[in-house]
Amino acid sequence: MNLMLMGLPGAGKGTQAEKIVDKYHIIHISTGDMFREAMANETPVGLKAKGFIDKGELVPDEVTNELVKERLGQDDVKQNGYMLDGFPRNLEQAKALAQINADLGLKLDAVIDIDVDPAILVERLSGRFICKNCGATYHKLNHPTKVAGVCDRCGSHEFYQREDDKPETVKNRLAVNVKMNTPLIDFYQKDGILHRIDGDQAIDQVFADVDTVLNKIY
Ligand code: AP5
Repeated sequence: MNLMLMGLPGAGKGTQAEKIVDKYHIIHISTGDMFREAMANETPVGLKAKGFIDKGELVPDEVTNELVKERLGQDDVKQNGYMLDGFPRNLEQAKALAQINADLGLKLDAVIDIDVDPAILVERLSGRFICKNCGATYHKLNHPTKVAGVCDRCGSHEFYQREDDKPETVKNRLAVNVKMNTPLIDFYQKDGILHRIDGDQAIDQVFADVDTVLNKIY
């Protein structure tokens, strides 16, 4: 099964991705996570990406497409299937993905669009905190850890907030992504593989709806 999760920043892609991977064991490929890792390691891709990510802009397509192409060509993806999170984000990337799939003999089975009212996204992002050890995502009000200060998943006590979750960067991230979102939805709707999920519901209900879709195709 090969999937793509789309949605505006803060829609819940990473949160749902954790649940999908736990149940279906497909390979989670988040371009945002790949860029953050590259930035932390100060690789050439990371150094290129940093200027864009810090401003809430998209990293140029040629850099992003190449990164995804390389990752999708790896053996674990062929064996287990992929779940793209945050890629493609515009029409050019969607066309690039179609070409990458054709070259590698892969097929995108479903696109899950987590649809959320943009008005609530700033609050979601400003309340987000992430486990430093395993990357599990929480929210101080909507999705706190079960025991205060302890990660539910790995027991770690260390958490961080993302640099690009500062209010001024968030505003630009939302503006950039809102512009690209509708053409992307149209593209996959025409393809007949788009499934829209109401992302304004509680996290477990969103997952129940995602799971209903996945049960039909898996
Ligand atoms: P990326 O890391 O992909 O960030 P994003 O798309 O902005 O999305 P987020 O990760 O912020 O949000 P999410 O949808 O995963 O929400 P989450 O589950 O955490 O990209 C970062 C940057 O990298 C981009 O700005 C760009 O510069 C670059 N980049 C990445 N991909 C690129 C590409 N393809 N091309 C070019 N550049 C690219 O949830 C958010 C919060 O809400 C959490 O606290 C969570 O607990 C809470 N929450 C989740 N679901 C619910 C719910 N149902 N109800 C209540 N709270 C909820």
